[in-house]
Amino acid sequence: SGNGPPKGHRYDLVVLANRLPVDQATDPDGQACWRRSPGGLVTALHPIMQSRAGAWIGWHGRPGAAPKPFNHDGIRLHPIELSAEEVDGYYEGQSNATIWPLYHDAVEQPVFDRRWRQAYHSVNHRFAAAAAQLAAPGALVWVHDYHLQLVPGMLRKLRPDLRIGFFLHIPFPPVELFCQLPMRDDIMRGLLGSDLVGFQHPQGTTNFARLAAHLLDAELADGVIKHESGVTAAATFPISIDVAGQQQLATEPPIRARADEIRRELGSPRTLILGVDRLDYTKGIEHRLTAYGELLADGRLDPAQTVMVQVAVPSRQRLDQYQSLRERVETTVSRINGRHAGIGKLCVHYLHQSYDREELAALYLAADVMAVTPLRDGMNLVAKEYVATRTDGTGALVLSEFAGAAAELRQAWMVNPHNLEALKDTLAEAAAADVAEQRRRMEPMRSHLRRYDVNRWAAAFLGQLGDPASPEPS
Ligand code: ADP
Ligand code: F6P
Repeated sequence: SGNGPPKGHRYDLVVLANRLPVDQATDPDGQACWRRSPGGLVTALHPIMQSRAGAWIGWHGRPGAAPKPFNHDGIRLHPIELSAEEVDGYYEGQSNATIWPLYHDAVEQPVFDRRWRQAYHSVNHRFAAAAAQLAAPGALVWVHDYHLQLVPGMLRKLRPDLRIGFFLHIPFPPVELFCQLPMRDDIMRGLLGSDLVGFQHPQGTTNFARLAAHLLDAELADGVIKHESGVTAAATFPISIDVAGQQQLATEPPIRARADEIRRELGSPRTLILGVDRLDYTKGIEHRLTAYGELLADGRLDPAQTVMVQVAVPSRQRLDQYQSLRERVETTVSRINGRHAGIGKLCVHYLHQSYDREELAALYLAADVMAVTPLRDGMNLVAKEYVATRTDGTGALVLSEFAGAAAELRQAWMVNPHNLEALKDTLAEAAAADVAEQRRRMEPMRSHLRRYDVNRWAAAFLGQLGDPASPEPS
């Protein structure tokens, strides 16, 4: 923390996201502390905001009174208060039990509840009001993700002078799925309050434009949507990571030493297969475990030579869907270990824990095969982190066709995770690949990432939104 600008200071760039980059937490001694928030949004936005004198409006992760604005890691943070009922209705309900599953192809049944919609509306209004207060005249305001889809429309009414951008970090669904939403018109009108709406994948951009035409009779021409209250541009901006920072981590001697140590601690297996995900039903963790278990049972992978490490970062733990997923995953892990493990020799190391960037980088360095098998994912930054970490060009990335990252990391071992036989074959092939084959695939992916890092993503979006400090990249 530290002293920030005086009260009443207004910013030329204001970012809004449900979460701040840090969550209020309690350390093992019972002291209050701040901890990095999980997820791809924070990974991407954190380095961008560190390099700019903007403000970040978001929730501090706990119900009840919000702390005063403060500085953290060079970023000015403005916490937003949520009551316990609002955490229930806005965050856990409408955001994570209705919109999240629906936008991810309804891989889990979305739940609809009118009380949640009320909470979603009023919390969105609180965010919009906070931005209206903090933004300088003509400022850029950048709204993020599915929790805040009403904010652009609300903010447009409060402050018509602002340039308002919205970026969706998750997939945007096709017309027939979106139309299930009781709030569909409100959400479309909310999003169309933006000057620019950005998506991870061209599919999302197309779906959005079609919906504007279908629901609101908007006219489409040359990447812009003409609608009842103005003109909104819609475009694709695939998000990325701080590639240089990730590569830097990968070359640090303590992290390389830790990677060697991890392999030794796991009994120096010939093949280490790694999964790193929030424990979320979109991530295909069960499918991956089932495939691995069958490969061991079929004798196609040797339990004496193969180890899987699955990091499952705790997420949204109060929601039923997440609790039952956890039970299913933990049952599957025990079943595999029960059948194939030996004394002191697990087949699956399941870690329902949180790790810092350094330990994750060491895991990426230690892993021969990185299994990224979501049923649906906006992008998946873990896949990009793995590729960026492998500075010597070795390692095998198995990647679901249904991750946004598949549009860019085209040389990965691509798979449809719903096809169990294909998933087994692909994991087995990736595990058997020699170094020449690994490099042949890894090098083009690495050079793609060096070009398309998170700075370029932000500059492309902010440049199109009209930021004088972000010339549009060539
Ligand atoms: P999602 O946004 O759905 O969680 P992504 O794969 O896009 O999925 O992003 C996950 C991000 O979270 C990665 O950058 C990963 O390094 C990071 N991460 C993983 N574990 C933790 C953790 N314990 N705390 C904070 N961030 C984490
Ligand atoms: O886009 C993925 C995302 O939903 C982010 O918006 C979010 O910060 C992250 O995953 C983690 O989820 P949560 O904030 O619910 O813990």
